[in-house]
Amino acid sequence: MENLIAIENLKKYFPIYGGVLKRKVAEVKAVDDVHLNIMRGECFGVVGESGCGKTTLGKTIIRLLNPNAGHIFYRVPKEIVEAIKYLERNDPKSKALKYLLKEYDIAYLTGRRLKKFRRYMQIVFQDPSTSLDPRMLVKDIVAEPLVSQGLAKGANVGKRVVEVLELVGLSRSHLYRYPHEFSGGQRQRIAVARAIITNPEFIVLDEPTSSVDVSVRAQLLNLFKELQKKLGLTYMFISHDLSVVECISDRVAVMYLGKIVELAETYDLYKNPLHPYAKALFASIPVPDPTRRREKAPLYGEVPSPVNPPAGCRFHPRCALAMDICKRDEPPLVDVGGGHLVACYAVTEKE
Ligand SMILES: Nc1ncnc2c1ncn2[C@@H]1O[C@H](COP(=O)(O)OP(=O)(O)OP(=O)(O)O)[C@@H](O)[C@H]1O
Ligand SMILES: [Mg+2]
Repeated sequence: MENLIAIENLKKYFPIYGGVLKRKVAEVKAVDDVHLNIMRGECFGVVGESGCGKTTLGKTIIRLLNPNAGHIFYRVPKEIVEAIKYLERNDPKSKALKYLLKEYDIAYLTGRRLKKFRRYMQIVFQDPSTSLDPRMLVKDIVAEPLVSQGLAKGANVGKRVVEVLELVGLSRSHLYRYPHEFSGGQRQRIAVARAIITNPEFIVLDEPTSSVDVSVRAQLLNLFKELQKKLGLTYMFISHDLSVVECISDRVAVMYLGKIVELAETYDLYKNPLHPYAKALFASIPVPDPTRRREKAPLYGEVPSPVNPPAGCRFHPRCALAMDICKRDEPPLVDVGGGHLVACYAVTEKE
């Protein structure tokens, strides 16, 4: 499969200001050195506890947030990514590297080029009641990205709005209504219509089904799958609901304190999580077969603060398998076979 997005060493730190002079006193390391590839047409799931950096990762990839460091390559040929990596290692001050980054790295886009790029990547948030402007009519809410991008004018705007409303299971009759006149599930459909109106290729779905009840959740998941097929979309699906992620994702990444600790095809990960944190996380899903028991791996202690993450492996203070090296060195993400990546010395040293 073709690679659509390649993320390298991505970092997003939020400054914390303090003191009388409101100087920067510390940083929240929300996303810290993340690497990942997203294939065209796949649904890439991201799971992890609250505060581990899922939303920040999604928003930074589509440049709603500015990264502090790293690369975001979108539809960039492999040879060019390789050339950039080579130059970074061997000639980091070269003009050629500067040129390539300016030309190909989304992380450095600004101004008009950034604005133009936005049509290709969209986001749907958890709570449509806050993400949709309550004073705007549905027709204007949905049309907004199209108009602000200058992609359509006059009668064509209305035509396209009706087209996307129909794609998400709404209709012309909903054009002149306000968001509060809709149910939670329908409001999320409006948010989806707005996200697909510019014909994007990549959509970040950030907890898109967390604010609706179970039956509506199933309908929305079906809608996402249907749209993915029809429009050839690529998704990043963020949720802390492990079973929802399992049902829609092709591959899943597990995040812990700003880092990816495990990444694998959904089936492999759910059947056989390897990282001690992932093991504990997945042990909390109920097993449908009462005769089967899941290996229990309880989580001790609390998630440490992302302001001062532990040295070495960030999980080591809570890990039953922690060795000396884990307190000192940060474990790299290593492929243990079939694209199953794990960042844990206790797992990979044995392999
Ligand atoms: N704008 C911001 N300013 C400062 N800190 C922030 C900001 N946004 C997020 N953070 C911090 O960054 C860390 C990661 O937050 P993020 O919202 O990405 O987590 P999350 O995994 O999406 O959590 P949740 O499951 O609760 O949505 C948290 O410690 C959070 O407090
Ligand atoms: Mg979030």
